Amino acid sequence: MGLMKGVVLAGGTGSRLFPLTKITNKHLLPIYDKPMIYYPIQTLVDAGIRDILVVTGGKNAGDFLRLLANGKQFGLAHIDYTYQEGEGGIADALRLAEHFADGKKLCVVLGDNIIEGNIRDAVDAFRLQERGARILLKEVPDAERFGVAELDGDRVVHIEEKPPHPKSNYAVTGIYMYDGTVFEKVERLVPSRRGELEITDVNNAYIDEGTMTFSFLDGWWTDAGTFESLLRAGNLVAGTRRTPECDEPEAALADLVERQ
Ligand code: G1P
Repeated sequence: MGLMKGVVLAGGTGSRLFPLTKITNKHLLPIYDKPMIYYPIQTLVDAGIRDILVVTGGKNAGDFLRLLANGKQFGLAHIDYTYQEGEGGIADALRLAEHFADGKKLCVVLGDNIIEGNIRDAVDAFRLQERGARILLKEVPDAERFGVAELDGDRVVHIEEKPPHPKSNYAVTGIYMYDGTVFEKVERLVPSRRGELEITDVNNAYIDEGTMTFSFLDGWWTDAGTFESLLRAGNLVAGTRRTPECDEPEAALADLVERQ
């Protein structure tokens, strides 16, 4: 099984959470009893990935170093850090991982993506995959908020970024596995209508090349980049701590309400 490295993308202005993000970075905000960034790091560590880069930016980048230090709280001996200048989007932030990746496979996690379970099986499958990429899909009721995968049997044929009329209910979660060619693909991107280099365009480049695979994510999944999803994330984590058998967000929330 080949070596895989992990990248947590934790830059951005967090404008949808203003004024919470006026004086700090979104990924340092609390999700129940831990700072947001703890969760994606734990996701990587739980998948057996120990070589981790945190990409951050903005005025509070130094706080990540003070918070995470060398990763002892995750059983790590070291964490790598890099700094994103400007606001170029997720794929632009990923560019900064090229030196760290050193041609190896990467598992990239968006810093506001929180999962109940683990991604070990998908990561192990990707370790065995000769080349290409692998994404993790989750069926959701509000697919228009996300990148949405159009499936044809066991193939993903296209991903649309936040389509007003989604072609499926399968959201592309913010957990992506890439081979060493990802950086060439990022270089060929052109900015989207919102002026950013989109991770969805990177994924579509792999689809067009015929090397994209996918797995379904088990357990609940949420982002935490809006007021609603930030609250939901906290409630889901709190619910899981109290009722580990609960694997559906709606059930976990209903359970919480009942307890109040
Ligand atoms: C990003 C991606 C989107 C993905 C989502 C997952 O959206 O662009 O494809 O489904 O993360 O959290 P953002 O929340 O940055 O707008």
